[in-house]
Amino acid sequence: MDIDPKYSTPDEAYKLLTGLIVPRPVAWITSLSPDSKVNLAPFSAYGLVTHRPPMLMVTIGTRNDERKDTGRNIVAQREFVVNVARFEDAAILQQSSADFAYSESEIEHLGLRTVASTVVKVPRLANAVAAMECRLREKLEYPDVDSIILLGEVVSFYIRDDFVRNGKVATPELDPLARIGGPNYAGLDRFVSAASLLAGESPAK
Ligand SMILES: Cc1cc2nc3c(=O)[nH]c(=O)nc-3n(C[C@H](O)[C@H](O)[C@H](O)COP(=O)(O)O)c2cc1C
Repeated sequence: MDIDPKYSTPDEAYKLLTGLIVPRPVAWITSLSPDSKVNLAPFSAYGLVTHRPPMLMVTIGTRNDERKDTGRNIVAQREFVVNVARFEDAAILQQSSADFAYSESEIEHLGLRTVASTVVKVPRLANAVAAMECRLREKLEYPDVDSIILLGEVVSFYIRDDFVRNGKVATPELDPLARIGGPNYAGLDRFVSAASLLAGESPAK
């Protein structure tokens, strides 16, 4: 079947994109409101941009024609933290996506704790095993798009020592949470190294 997006509703396009661009990592973002309340919400329109300097992007939409709290906070404070979500975080992460009032902190509501970051004022989640402290580098906005695209420069990486092997992130131990269409979540359970493929090994089915 061929689908011309000109004739698709935004909802149909959303279902196609979120079903086809998979698995998506989830940026579990902490940000600070002007009155220093810590806001927490998940975003899967998120990805790597460059490594020199280290930059990532996240796309934040609207709710009832208003910018979501995370977007408001990042634009006002120019800082945020991407906490890395693990598969075991799925239930609480899903709860953190609920529509809380701007004055209400998801952190307090869900009984979570935060700890100070290294460089930015925004704290990270205390139980996050990895996090990236970011400064807003650029906000992209278009007249026909209701989301804003934020480019963040990573100014500090945090990773718990036991999740590093030979100077690299130990992905199986990290057990990152992924978002797929549906909406559903997935974990990673099959790994193959590029070196073994080049050596002629075929990936296990
Ligand atoms: C796994 C997951 C991924 C999400 N990804 C996005 C996203 O990429 N962009 C977006 O605007 N909303 C996304 N949402 C919805 C927001 O998390 C939700 O609107 C949340 O209430 C925003 O909170 P805030 O107003 O505190 O920023 C996602 C929700 C979930 C559960």
